[in-house]
Amino acid sequence: MSASIHDPKLDQGGRSGDSGLLKGRFELGEVLGRGGQGKTFRGFDHLQGTPVAIKELGLDVAEKWKAIELFEREGRALRNLEHEAIPSYIDAFHIEDDDGTVRFFLVQQFVEGQTFQQLIERGEVISTQGAIDFIDHVLDILEYLHGLNPPVIHRDIKPSNLMLRPDGTIVLVDFGAVQVISPHSVMGSTIVGTTGYVSPEQLAGRTVPASDLYSLGATVVHLLTHLHPADLPMERMRLKFEKHIIEAPPPLMRFLQGVLDPVVEDRICTVSEARNVLSGQGSMELARVHKGGPPPVLRRPVGSKIEVEEEGNKLKVWLPASGRYRRIYWAAVLLLLGAMGMLLPLVTSKTMPVLAAAFATFLLVGQLFISPTRLTIDPDTFYINRHTVNGNHRGWTEDLADVELRQSGEEKFLMFIPMPAHLVLMEGVYPLHFGFGLTAVERRWVQGVVRRRLSA
Ligand SMILES: Nc1ncnc2c1ncn2[C@@H]1O[C@H](COP(=O)(O)OP(=O)(O)O)[C@@H](O)[C@H]1O
Ligand SMILES: [Mg+2]
Repeated sequence: MSASIHDPKLDQGGRSGDSGLLKGRFELGEVLGRGGQGKTFRGFDHLQGTPVAIKELGLDVAEKWKAIELFEREGRALRNLEHEAIPSYIDAFHIEDDDGTVRFFLVQQFVEGQTFQQLIERGEVISTQGAIDFIDHVLDILEYLHGLNPPVIHRDIKPSNLMLRPDGTIVLVDFGAVQVISPHSVMGSTIVGTTGYVSPEQLAGRTVPASDLYSLGATVVHLLTHLHPADLPMERMRLKFEKHIIEAPPPLMRFLQGVLDPVVEDRICTVSEARNVLSGQGSMELARVHKGGPPPVLRRPVGSKIEVEEEGNKLKVWLPASGRYRRIYWAAVLLLLGAMGMLLPLVTSKTMPVLAAAFATFLLVGQLFISPTRLTIDPDTFYINRHTVNGNHRGWTEDLADVELRQSGEEKFLMFIPMPAHLVLMEGVYPLHFGFGLTAVERRWVQGVVRRRLSA
């Protein structure tokens, strides 16, 4: 071996030499794991006298530059990380064998313990409380990684990359897939990740920090159900795991459903949001509404004339006509009548029916905004009564998907008349417009009350 072993600038380890030690320092032991990238060995650092883990890039993949790039990325990523739950970087180098083949190595601190994959294979079952503790630990690590500037995304969270130390703490290994989101780095098209644990957007090559949360969710589902997430049924790209988990506390279920949302925009996408949902402080619904608009109001606004009657899973909401809309409406009717009176000499027998029809439409449409509305949701059927045009509607309660807020101008009457702000009861994909003339706080309150009934 050369005398340059201690030269920190040197990353060419040279030949393994006579000592049998890599770089004259590292001893290779048993194989710990074999993955897509190569082999990981138990090892020993004779310089520091400590056990190490040595990862070697596989020979067949070593020919591929992409693999080398990923391997080097892992080294660079690990070197810059400092966290008690991440093995520390020790060295990275390559050596040339006598036959000219080049071998790449990454040396890191050895972690005592077992991977969660090994625990699953041994038949160990985690309790739901155990799952919550597990999530807590991993969220700590993700909080650190995602909070770095630029954020670091692990991209391969799964049971075989998480280890349980004998003292009960958890360690995240395998930074071979890591991505550092930097404004200066152009990411190649390398798709990494593992089937079943990988989020749809990561599969499409658009990884974000929330992709790690998805993989965490899939990992926890695996730990709790002992079913590989790739073997679970899917419905509209959503993992159907619920019936395989019995007696999970509701916050844990909400967390899992929230992080496993296939649509990244709807997912619980930050660590702090995840913690809120898990601690039962925020429901997924609240978290979701926060993103799109203001949260629903769940207390009756002082001074509101709306009446709400809740009895078991029956709900009755009575929305009185708005005085302001009523005044605007009647003022407009009078104005129109006056204008028509003045225009009377110009009206011919031809234009008369057109004018009359327009006026009648105006009267009818106007009624919709000024009439009181009654909404009744019974266990089986619902009924909405608007005393006007497309007024009364009855349907099946189970068809009600949601109640949404509409901002002023968002919807058009007859395709061109902008509607004022209101509420929309979604009967499947069909919108039932109501709640005109309410204040913003009343709309959010009614939405909150109706949603509470729909999710009951
Ligand atoms: N620092 C470490 N200490 C102890 N064991 C480790 C360490 N890193 C990895 N391992 C073991 O080696 C296996 C493979 O390593 P990993 O880095 O995940 O490589 P791969 O890309 O092949 O999945 C892991 O599943 C784990 O059992
Ligand atoms: Mg791995």
